[in-house]
Amino acid sequence: MYYPDDIVEEVRSRNDIVDIISGYVKLQKKGSSYFGLCPFHHEKSPSFSVSPGKQMYYCFGCGAGGNVITFLMEYENYTFQEALQVLAERAGVELPKQEYSREARQQADLKATLLEIHKLAANYYYYQLKQPQGRAGYEYLTGRGLTDDTIRRFGLGYSNKTSDDLYRYLRSKGYGASVLKESGLVTIEERGTWDKFWNRVMFPIMDIHNRVVGFGGRVMGQGEPKYLNSPETKLFDKSRNLYGLNYARSTREKYFLICEGYMDVIAMHQAGFTNAVASLGTAFTTQHAAIIKRYTSQVILTYDSDDAGVRAALRAIPILKEAGISCKVLNMQPYKDPDEFIKNLGTEAFRERIGAAKNSFLFEIDMLKRSYDLEDPEQKTGFYNAVARKLLEFPEALERDNYIQAVSQEHFINYQDLKQLVNHTAGRMSVPAEGQGQFPPGIMRRENREREKKKDREDGVRQSQRLLLTWLIENPGLFDKIEGIITPEDFREDLYHQVAEMVFEGHASGNLSPARILNHFINDEEQYKEAAALFNASLDESLSNEEQKKAFSATVIKVRRNSLEEAGRKAADIAQLQEIIKAQRALRTLHISLD
Ligand code: UTP
Ligand code: MN
Repeated sequence: MYYPDDIVEEVRSRNDIVDIISGYVKLQKKGSSYFGLCPFHHEKSPSFSVSPGKQMYYCFGCGAGGNVITFLMEYENYTFQEALQVLAERAGVELPKQEYSREARQQADLKATLLEIHKLAANYYYYQLKQPQGRAGYEYLTGRGLTDDTIRRFGLGYSNKTSDDLYRYLRSKGYGASVLKESGLVTIEERGTWDKFWNRVMFPIMDIHNRVVGFGGRVMGQGEPKYLNSPETKLFDKSRNLYGLNYARSTREKYFLICEGYMDVIAMHQAGFTNAVASLGTAFTTQHAAIIKRYTSQVILTYDSDDAGVRAALRAIPILKEAGISCKVLNMQPYKDPDEFIKNLGTEAFRERIGAAKNSFLFEIDMLKRSYDLEDPEQKTGFYNAVARKLLEFPEALERDNYIQAVSQEHFINYQDLKQLVNHTAGRMSVPAEGQGQFPPGIMRRENREREKKKDREDGVRQSQRLLLTWLIENPGLFDKIEGIITPEDFREDLYHQVAEMVFEGHASGNLSPARILNHFINDEEQYKEAAALFNASLDESLSNEEQKKAFSATVIKVRRNSLEEAGRKAADIAQLQEIIKAQRALRTLHISLD
């Protein structure tokens, strides 16, 4: 971090967190906090909280948490510097312009350096493509029907046959071996140094701000692997990246097209379908769905028509549904993928297929049907039963009925018979057939047990320390009550200790701000998240006043007792041990008065 602490704090404190986050998430006031659907994971009921008092956000579902700066870093994928610049500008704070040596900056922000490196590498590959040595690459791409415009728009390039020219180029630009290793673009071993990509056409992978965060490289013709991809780095997280999203995010269409790979996205964009994105060969994740949900709640799957593509679609459908995204499936037959389809049948035919895309539930039923031999009466019955069970996925009677109709029509099943079978199946599974669905009692019990086990697993020591810090933050009056009992030394784990020290210091100097404390951990996502959790333990608000006092006393005693136990284990000599035993004895008769 190379801005002085007080500047960072000024920028942070001049940007109200509720103002900023409500630009991204719909928030509703509940008590002293605001709640909304978490933008960092999928959920149907809001567990994402924004506290104006603490100037923090925290999700009770997934544990995402931090202050206004980390929010922009996570949501917009900004570096710390970028987030700070955006917020400074917004609040009219002038940031000091200081020149730092490249080395100091490399230390300061690895991510920013990796971005520079990727940008240089992308330009380098792009340049090679138009050189004599890149001719094979250029001919490969144009041979696949890509125009110069498309090549420029997607920044396609070529990695030379020389084994380390990118490495030497980047070294000449002043980057050290270790940061180049972190970029994933080179392999550095004792035996030597190689570029990762060698004699391939290059596809830069961009984030939503058009910044290159990784590459895919394709062999020209046959060869293994067909596509070589950047490893996961500080910049590149496969489970969150969607290829083409930098362009698709500003589409005018109401839906996204989701496909499998680089060439499909590019072919669709070239044909004018600029709403196409791909999850690049990795399985579609809940994070992908969460990101898509920021832009649209409708998608059309345009996966390959082979078995792998069908399997991928069947896996993606429930993930999309869970995220509240409605989804259709495009029929690519007789071609394999969008690239081939468009090349053979053209744009208009593809547009027609989009119009005819199949409702994802009906697609699932089609695929289910494939695994039954309908000539055989027993298997036919099996298929009908499976269909009936599947129809019970719809908790709303009306919606379910619409699907019963659609399925009976498509598969020539008598509507009344199917409806009866569905109701009968519901009875057997003890699911209410009409009205709002409820979990059958068996399922409920299992869920409870899981939850209890998880609770048991929760580390009790840490939990009581989190509770105590949250209490102190929310009711600074409680500091008086623990004076002489608890000090920051009682928080023995490193991060907890650091945070506790800042909390106690902040209170002593009349300047206690959890969001400011988080500034100290901003360079490390794990740390600021964990620190955020320390200020957001869930206090049980249903307790009566009396019960709350009891719970607070019990927590104080627990924290102190744990601390003494640990001190006992580490005691250096008898004298120290005797001190500890004395303190333990005193704790037994301790009474914390909260009146
Ligand atoms: P495909 O094998 O369907 O490739 O893989 P494609 O997109 O049709 O590519 P072309 O048309 O033959 O050039 C789909 C996606 O899976 C990932 C890539 O992201 C690819 O675009 N993939 C595939 C890899 O990462 N590595 C591989 O070896 C193969
Ligand atoms: Mn293809």
